[in-house]
Amino acid sequence: MKKTILITGSTDGIGKEAAHILAQDGHQIIVHGRSQQKVETTVNSMKSDTGNQEILACVADLSELSAVDSMCLDIKNMVPHLDVLINNAGVFNSPNPKNEKGIDMRFAVNYLSAYRLTNQLLPSLQQSEDGRIINLSSAAQEAVSIAALRGEKDLSASSAYAQSKLALTMWSFQLGQEQDKITVIPVNPGSLLDTNMVREAFGRTLGPAEKGANILQVLATADEYKQFDSQYFDNDLGNPLGSFGPAHPNAYNQSLIEELISVTEELINAII
Ligand SMILES: NC(=O)c1ccc[n+]([C@@H]2O[C@H](COP(=O)([O-])OP(=O)(O)OC[C@H]3O[C@@H](n4cnc5c(N)ncnc54)[C@H](OP(=O)(O)O)[C@@H]3O)[C@@H](O)[C@H]2O)c1
Repeated sequence: MKKTILITGSTDGIGKEAAHILAQDGHQIIVHGRSQQKVETTVNSMKSDTGNQEILACVADLSELSAVDSMCLDIKNMVPHLDVLINNAGVFNSPNPKNEKGIDMRFAVNYLSAYRLTNQLLPSLQQSEDGRIINLSSAAQEAVSIAALRGEKDLSASSAYAQSKLALTMWSFQLGQEQDKITVIPVNPGSLLDTNMVREAFGRTLGPAEKGANILQVLATADEYKQFDSQYFDNDLGNPLGSFGPAHPNAYNQSLIEELISVTEELINAII
């Protein structure tokens, strides 16, 4: 069945590959990126490569929550409902380690923007018969420092990245339990897949970006993954397809999850 699918950060890497595959399957795709030009180029090449003309465009720099809010309005005006939201946009290295509000870029882009975007788009997803939210986590997960999340403590790029990914995973589990009608799956798409982020951060790769894109296609649309809430899919487990596996232990600690969500709400209210 044809679905309406929004993929953040679909102008490059895993997100772009996934958008292409899902467009080939005949779904309506909303391509999102931070660069107008890159979004337009991606949309045009996707239309000509796949023959699918139902490719929509959306531009927003997810490092600032005000831009996330504008993007939500754009999406609501663009489509009557959403079936799938893939929170894929992410950063590891960043020329500016903090955003204009003093929040670490990794927390801002990889966690807070996804949290804000998703919460505002929940009414659109709740209208779907098979609503799904796929959150791009990572094998890199590290206990979240609340001070660092608030922007009161500086972290290395790798710690900030790993903490943002655990925060995303912890919140995904909570959201899955709260949303009866929507399936929420945090996923490690595979480690060191060949993308700009990995080449810049590590200088080496272990597998193609398609490996991550293929698992996004499956989790977003295959019937067997409907209603798999509060489980973490690890695409490093098994070949070619991974399996559900354990996330960082803190992702199962309800008091840490509640503290994280409470600080997240407080932070968003303070900076928006
Ligand atoms: N590759 C891996 O091995 C791997 C492993 C685990 C998890 N992941 C996760 O998979 C996701 C995709 O990563 P990737 O490896 O495909 O990286 P990538 O090739 O660098 O793609 C990242 C995407 O996010 C977009 N983006 C970055 N900052 C943004 C911002 N401030 N506002 C809006 N969009 C922004 C990028 O836009 P531009 O096109 O403008 O750069 C790009 O489209 C990330 O969440 C990453 O953490 C990747």
